[in-house]
Amino acid sequence: MYTQALDTHGREPVPAAEGAGPAARFQARIDADEKIEPKDWMPEAYRQTLIRQISQHAHSEIVGMLPEGNWITRAPTLRRKAVLIAKVQDEGGHGMYLYSAAETLGVSRAQLIEQLLSGAAKYSSIFNYPTLTWADVGAIGWLVDGAAIMNQIPICRCSYGPYARAMVRICKEESFHQRQGFEIMLTLAQGSAAQHAMAQDALNRWWWPSIMMFGPSDGDSRHTAQSMAWKIKRFSNDELRQKFIDVTVPQAQFLGLTIPDPRLRWDEATQHFQIGPIDWSEFYAVLKGNGPCNRERLEARRAADAAGAWVREAAAAYAAKHGGRAPAGASHG
Ligand code: 3HC
Repeated sequence: MYTQALDTHGREPVPAAEGAGPAARFQARIDADEKIEPKDWMPEAYRQTLIRQISQHAHSEIVGMLPEGNWITRAPTLRRKAVLIAKVQDEGGHGMYLYSAAETLGVSRAQLIEQLLSGAAKYSSIFNYPTLTWADVGAIGWLVDGAAIMNQIPICRCSYGPYARAMVRICKEESFHQRQGFEIMLTLAQGSAAQHAMAQDALNRWWWPSIMMFGPSDGDSRHTAQSMAWKIKRFSNDELRQKFIDVTVPQAQFLGLTIPDPRLRWDEATQHFQIGPIDWSEFYAVLKGNGPCNRERLEARRAADAAGAWVREAAAAYAAKHGGRAPAGASHG
């Protein structure tokens, strides 16, 4: 929907006589909290930053369908199955909105999917961990979707209009996802000793990867300063990580579960929970493709792409025969 009539994508050359004028006016619009729209003039680096972040985000939603999709056929009740199907379907929808938002910046969905399938594009580290038990579905909803909301609510106020608007609906759906995960954890935590142990084991395995989801510490985050100046990001990685920790630790206490961090403590002086050191070597290993499930995830996406090739070919043949445009996403997705 965003791509209709977007022929120039704000790429008009800067008139020589105006010198630095457009860049200064652009920053003034950002500072005044105006939204930047696809046909507005924007610095090339702003466009590239958005394409990078929005496409990584879209890929995360699509790859994120896999770990939970793994449990659809084994959900313990019909109600749990229906809810999980709806949740996984929502994530697919989020990916589609986000690819559409990225397309308004002058990149095609086919290019973005190609980057994912070739391994050139990043997607969230968190989706390279396995879902070993049903409790992992609860832990993902509670922790992973909880972390995603913390990171994504501020993106509803992002300076780029199509990304900000896509995030409004996404965040509403993510809130439902977080609650369904917490409810699974609550049921297990209050269940039999074996169910409680299963919930604790899932928390043990998902806690640190969820903490790492927020990205490198501020000192190592190469994009944060510029992205905050452009109001693409409204908070730094460490600020959002701390907010998540402060909200989540009391929830674990309510569940009667133990956060797997012996150094975790409430700090009276700062009025924040303080955590022990994060193992950044694990985070960077996952980013380099060496997490527990990196290969499996990309293979699943490549297999899905190959299995859907005939649908794309049929849609393109239909469009050619009828002289119309192929439906959006017919080339990929
Ligand atoms: N996993 C993989 N790569 C990560 C990462 C993570 N958790 N955190 C950071 N990185 C990458 C960055 O993409 C960047 O790589 P690049 O320079 O090669 O592109 C590099 O590490 C340096 O990190 P920075 O902090 O400098 O990068 P950003 O300023 O882009 O901040 C971010 C990273 C906070 C993830 C930011 O991009 C962001 O807010 N993105 C939008 C939200 C998003 O993509 N969330 C992913 C999860 S979606 C989800 O969980 C779905 C839901 O259904 C659960």
